[in-house]
Amino acid sequence: MIDENAPPIELRSVSKRFGSLVVLDNVSLTMPRGQTTAVIGPSGTGKSVLLKHIVGLLRPDAGEVRVFGVDMATASEKLVYQVRKRLGMLFQDGALFDSLSTGDNIAFPLARHRPDLSAKKRRERVEEVLELVELPNLYDRPTSALSGGQRKRVGLARAIVTEPEVVLFDEPNSGLDPITSDAIDQLIVSMKQRLHITFVVISHDIVGTLNVADRICMLYGGKVVASGTTAEVTHSDNVMVRRFLSRNLVLPEPGDPAMATLPHIG
Ligand SMILES: Nc1ncnc2c1ncn2[C@@H]1O[C@H](COP(=O)(O)OP(=O)(O)OP(=O)(O)O)[C@@H](O)[C@H]1O
Ligand SMILES: [Mg+2]
Repeated sequence: MIDENAPPIELRSVSKRFGSLVVLDNVSLTMPRGQTTAVIGPSGTGKSVLLKHIVGLLRPDAGEVRVFGVDMATASEKLVYQVRKRLGMLFQDGALFDSLSTGDNIAFPLARHRPDLSAKKRRERVEEVLELVELPNLYDRPTSALSGGQRKRVGLARAIVTEPEVVLFDEPNSGLDPITSDAIDQLIVSMKQRLHITFVVISHDIVGTLNVADRICMLYGGKVVASGTTAEVTHSDNVMVRRFLSRNLVLPEPGDPAMATLPHIG
């Protein structure tokens, strides 16, 4: 059963490994309703894997991923579908269907989740979100003819077209010029205010998330090393957070000899 009072997203002691590679190690995390949570961490630390658990594309080896109170790993197919209707997702690589036009890509979730809309209304709605992401008049363009940044924005448009309650963005700003990137940030902030959407924004750039995030969760080596409000995390004296904030560089992998020079995180 969907529990309207449950947090939109909750991870309880989630662990996931691929072969001998432990990617998520006992991760617990609650993402409150109507807030934007940024999940940050260096490349390869499990951010996208975490997101795939939330939408039910991956199952944890241990622990639970609850979305609106529903355990995505054990729920019936029907219930998972009900939950997914409430989620919009931008995959890191855009995951566009190259056999469809730009507009039909964006219309895809509408056709699936809003069969009540006429073709005309659907087209109008798609034109509306194309304007929101500053790609007006691109409805009929083949996606193969889009630039990288345009593909990203089409992915964004597809994630928000149904105005879902929860929107998950995997690296919404990467590969975008600063102006488009700011426009995307503003879109996130205004949608949150106007529609009270719960956003999850994944980024390897902590500074880049400060414009949008209410909360930050930092993953490192498969564990949550810092979690709290943006102010709490940015003021924390956690050494990983400090390094990430001050240099905004990709950190060494665990086991990297450079790690030996870092103080132990307690
Ligand atoms: N299906 C899979 N099978 C095996 N290994 C996987 C699979 N998916 C992810 N991994 C591995 O899990 C680790 C975490 O991957 P993930 O994509 O979550 O990283 P990330 O934090 O999103 O990195 P980036 O910032 O580069 O996107 C990586 O080492 C990756 O190779
Ligand atoms: Mg990723």
